[in-house]
Amino acid sequence: MALGTDHLAALLPSDFTLGVATAAFQIEGAVAEDGRGPSGWDAFTHEPGRIAGGATADTACDHYHRMPLDVRLLAELGVDSYRFSLSWPRIQPGGKGPVNQRGIDFYDRLLDELLARGISPMCTLYHWDTPLPLERVGGWLNRDTAYRLADFAAIAADRFGDRVDRWVTINEPTTVTLNGYGLGVHAPGQAGLFDALPAAHHLILAHGLSLSALRAGGISGEAGITNVYSPVVGAKHGLAHDVLVELFDVLHNRMFSDPVLLGRYPSFNPVLKSFLQYLREIPDEDLAVMSQPLDFYGLNYYFPTRIGLGPGPSTGPDAVPDGLPEPLRQQGADLPFHLAGWPGYARTEFGWPVAPDYLPVALANMAERYPDLPPVYITEGGASFKDVVVPDALTNEPSVADVRRVDYLARHLEAALTATAPNGPAAGIDLRGYYVWTLMDNFEWAAGYSQRFGLVYVDFATQQRIRKSSFHWLKDLAALRRRDS
Ligand code: NOJ
Repeated sequence: MALGTDHLAALLPSDFTLGVATAAFQIEGAVAEDGRGPSGWDAFTHEPGRIAGGATADTACDHYHRMPLDVRLLAELGVDSYRFSLSWPRIQPGGKGPVNQRGIDFYDRLLDELLARGISPMCTLYHWDTPLPLERVGGWLNRDTAYRLADFAAIAADRFGDRVDRWVTINEPTTVTLNGYGLGVHAPGQAGLFDALPAAHHLILAHGLSLSALRAGGISGEAGITNVYSPVVGAKHGLAHDVLVELFDVLHNRMFSDPVLLGRYPSFNPVLKSFLQYLREIPDEDLAVMSQPLDFYGLNYYFPTRIGLGPGPSTGPDAVPDGLPEPLRQQGADLPFHLAGWPGYARTEFGWPVAPDYLPVALANMAERYPDLPPVYITEGGASFKDVVVPDALTNEPSVADVRRVDYLARHLEAALTATAPNGPAAGIDLRGYYVWTLMDNFEWAAGYSQRFGLVYVDFATQQRIRKSSFHWLKDLAALRRRDS
């Protein structure tokens, strides 16, 4: 029996959703097929030096051609739900105007495959692959992009609205803003630092407009947004660190959740002058659009953040996590703070601390800050480790004993369930589900193929899929739960 499944199965409420997640750009490949247009990420991956190992997502997991096989893996896992994203440039290559029917056909087939196997679809409208023509005219720095996403939402509602149980408007606007427009390590590669903040506003506005468009389009399912949340602590005590913690918490977390859940922006540290100026120019009604009631709130939790003053030491307990591929190691090089290491915590291959004890902190903070929080799904959680394929001792079939990933997932799921149980620190949260990131190893943005997060190992030379121990663990858990209920 895989680690902890009995214990976990007993903790799982019978209506709790167990799911796995992916995103179109990270798995589909087939970037120039059947009428798909280019995205900003296609262009970015083809710029020299942007992606670890010079990788592109031109083929990725070749999911576009192997979709039925991948859905069979999902069915074998026995999960309740699959979270995937629509490729905007596959459906609307110009980012506005005509719809590409062959793109629609692909997602029609995917939805039909899922529903035929009793797997509930959760569909993300926007998981970062902006059509290139829109990126060329400013991308998320251009307010018009928000209206274009709303038009895309209307198309999605019209074509798929009868079959999707849950819609996520936007995935991690934080990451798009900070990595794409602030630090320039994601597409479109602009390092505007604080000048990136208008992109945050346009993304959240796009969320609100898309929510309205989905509902106006008569979707039968629920709709919400997915934000990443990382609790922040200072590497040291003292005023300077407290200010930094506050600043980072505002920039990384609250900037994106306060307008959605409270209808206002957090009060800002004066360093955000350019954004304060921009805020004076936004129409009053934007915040009302952005804070419409959600059916659910999606939360991605991977790790907490420990923050220190200055560029950061390269050795000692406060060292910036190593093991990060270029160009991520450069991230933040010009900033007055650094992301410090976590002494005493194990790390993933990315250098991220394995900190299930901070997931209850994240949930409790959310409950405290947002008393009217709707039901919550943890829409992503997972870890990258160096996986090794070896012949199984009994069957001689290729296998991957990813015990650290099993441990990560089991401990985080347990932490989420106990934190939100009646006497837990986040009892106020109505936690409805947990989605593992991710079904199979895939294109991990700037890190290319150097970071494997999957339950299924992908050999990118042959596209062979190999079930890891974590796959068998989740399968056992899903089966035990079904038997119990
Ligand atoms: C969050 C993002 O939504 C996903 O695309 C990414 O692969 C994971 N984090 C892991 O970094």
